[in-house]
Amino acid sequence: MIIADSITYIGVNDHDLDLFEGQYEVPNGMAYNSYVIQDDKIAVMDSVDASFGSEWLGKLAAALDGRAPDYLVVQHMEPDHSSNITRFMDAYPNAQVVATAKAFDMMANFYGVDYADRRIIVKDGDELSLGTRTLRFIAAPMVHWPEVMFTYDAIDKVLFSADAFGKFGALDVEEDWACEARRYYFGIVGKFGKQVTGVLNKVAALDVRAICPLHGPVLSDNLDYYIGLYKTWAAYEVESDGIAIAYCSVYGHTKEAVMLLAAELEAAGCPKVAVSDLARDDMAEAVEDAFRYGTLVLVSTTYNGDMFPFMKSFIDHLADHAFQNRRVAFMENGTWAPTAARAMRAKMESCKNIEFVEPVVTIKSALTDESRATLRELAAALVG
Ligand code: FEO
Repeated sequence: MIIADSITYIGVNDHDLDLFEGQYEVPNGMAYNSYVIQDDKIAVMDSVDASFGSEWLGKLAAALDGRAPDYLVVQHMEPDHSSNITRFMDAYPNAQVVATAKAFDMMANFYGVDYADRRIIVKDGDELSLGTRTLRFIAAPMVHWPEVMFTYDAIDKVLFSADAFGKFGALDVEEDWACEARRYYFGIVGKFGKQVTGVLNKVAALDVRAICPLHGPVLSDNLDYYIGLYKTWAAYEVESDGIAIAYCSVYGHTKEAVMLLAAELEAAGCPKVAVSDLARDDMAEAVEDAFRYGTLVLVSTTYNGDMFPFMKSFIDHLADHAFQNRRVAFMENGTWAPTAARAMRAKMESCKNIEFVEPVVTIKSALTDESRATLRELAAALVG
C-alpha cells in the first residue's frame, strides 16, 4: 500500500490474537501498522508485534528493493510496536534508532539494550532531515504512554499519530471505523483526555492530509470527521443522543425491568437505548456506550449487601477512565434488603460532574404495579 510517493505501508494483520493488551476482545483481529519513508535517507516508523517480525522485515525489504534503512523511529514503546526493534537493529547494523529519552529507558528495561552508540534522542519540536523532507517530532505524553511522540512530514502533509486515531480490527476486514475506534479510544486512551486535547491543539496548526496511526486504517478523507470525534471524546462530551443502560440480572426479574425501561424510553421518543448485560456482553462495549451517550442507567441486583460483582467492575472501569459530565440513574433489585442503588451511587460519587436523576427504582424480587409506576416516573424524568 502506497500512502504517498515516498511512504509505503509495511504493517501486518493479526488474526490469532485472543485478547488485545491482555483484555480486549478483537473479533476482527488487529493491525500493527508500520511505514517506511524513502528519501535520500530512509526512515522506518515503528516495528510490529513479536509474532510478526519476519513478515514485517520481509515487507520492509520488498519495499526498499535493496536499499538499507537509516533510521527506525520509535514513537511508542508498548510491545505491540516495539518488539522487533532488536531484530531490525541486528538486520541493519548501520541504522540508528530515533526516540524520546523515556523511550530509550523503556527499551533498556524491555530488551536490555538502549543503543547508546546508535541512537538519536529527540524531544518535542526536534527535526530530522531525510533529504527532501524533514520529520518533526511532537511529544504526545500519555497518548498512550509517557514516552509517546507523533511525527509530522510537512512535504507529504502526513501525521504519524502513534496509537491516536487507531482502532481494533485487522485491515483485511471491512467494518465501521467509529465503532471500533471508540471502543479502542475509551478502553485504552480514555483516561487521558486532557493529554489528548493537548496534542490535538498542537497538531491543529499543521496542514494534515493523511493520518497514519499504529492501528487501523490510514485516514485520508474527511479528516475533520475523525478529528472532530477525537475532540469530543477527549473532552468527555456527549457524542450521540440516547441513553445507555448497563445491568446485571440473576434470574431475569431485573432484566425484565430493564427491558420495560428501554421500551418506555423508546416510546417516549428517546432516539437510541443501548442496553448492555454486564455479565454476558463485552464490558468494553458497555464502557464505550457509557461515554457515547449523555445519560447512563445503572441497574443491579443486590448481592452480599452490595451491588452485583460485574457492576462493581463496570463502575471501576468508568472511574478509571475518568467518566464525567453525565446524568446517571439507578434501578436496584433485592429480595430482603435492596442496597445496590446506594452502593452504586456511593461508587459513582468519585466521578466528576455527575447529575443523579431521581427516582431510584427499587424492585423487591419481581416487578409490581408500584415499582412499574416508579419505573415510568424515572423514564419520564430521563426523557423530559
Ligand atoms: Fe498500540 Fe499503546 O500500543
